[in-house]
Amino acid sequence: MNQDQLKQLVAQAAADYVAANAPEGCVLGVGTGSTANLFIDALAPIKSRFVGAVASSEASRVRLEGLGIRVLDLNEVTEIPIYVDGADEVDPGLNAIKGGGAALTREKIVAAVAREFVCIADASKKVGVLGKFPLPVEVIPMAREHVARELRRLGGDPRWREGVVTDNGNVILDVHGLSITDPAALESTIDHITGVVTSGLFARRGVDLLLISSPSGVERLS
Ligand code: 5RP
Repeated sequence: MNQDQLKQLVAQAAADYVAANAPEGCVLGVGTGSTANLFIDALAPIKSRFVGAVASSEASRVRLEGLGIRVLDLNEVTEIPIYVDGADEVDPGLNAIKGGGAALTREKIVAAVAREFVCIADASKKVGVLGKFPLPVEVIPMAREHVARELRRLGGDPRWREGVVTDNGNVILDVHGLSITDPAALESTIDHITGVVTSGLFARRGVDLLLISSPSGVERLS
């Protein structure tokens, strides 16, 4: 099986999970990226089970609406029982790096509201220690060089993702060269740098349920 087929497999498993576990008439949280896109497509046949979705990006909003799924503003919603999204890396403690698609801040906000964060990934995303995938950090544009200097002091090699502007009007620094053995501590440290909006580390609020696909099927880890 190739990676696209593995993404399809886990996206369908997530839709099945939603069909079995989401309360009738609820609002779902929906993430961003190629795996999340396949999940959105897999939601179409069960869309009558929920009233709508909160999207973690404009791209996902457009895709959901294209399938006739209502997209709500998060400020209109008090409860999200399940949030489904992909990840760039996940470690054995269910800490994740996200933000390869530059949607990390909205993803973190939706995850903060959600009761359960269901992460969907193919087996290539499972790692022993986070950091091989460069850690995305969303930064206020005028603070870019200041934040880059601070990230260098932490031992990272930040590189500006030139040409990318987030849905919030900010820029992304991708931090190479990290070996993240204490994800929650690093998340707090980076989030406290003035000018940082958020980092792509999901550790203080990590993954609740990981669905991970391999040629032998979809494994559930929690
Ligand atoms: C977007 C994300 C994505 O979930 C992450 O990059 C994984 O993407 P894909 O499913 O395309 O591999 O965090 O900001």
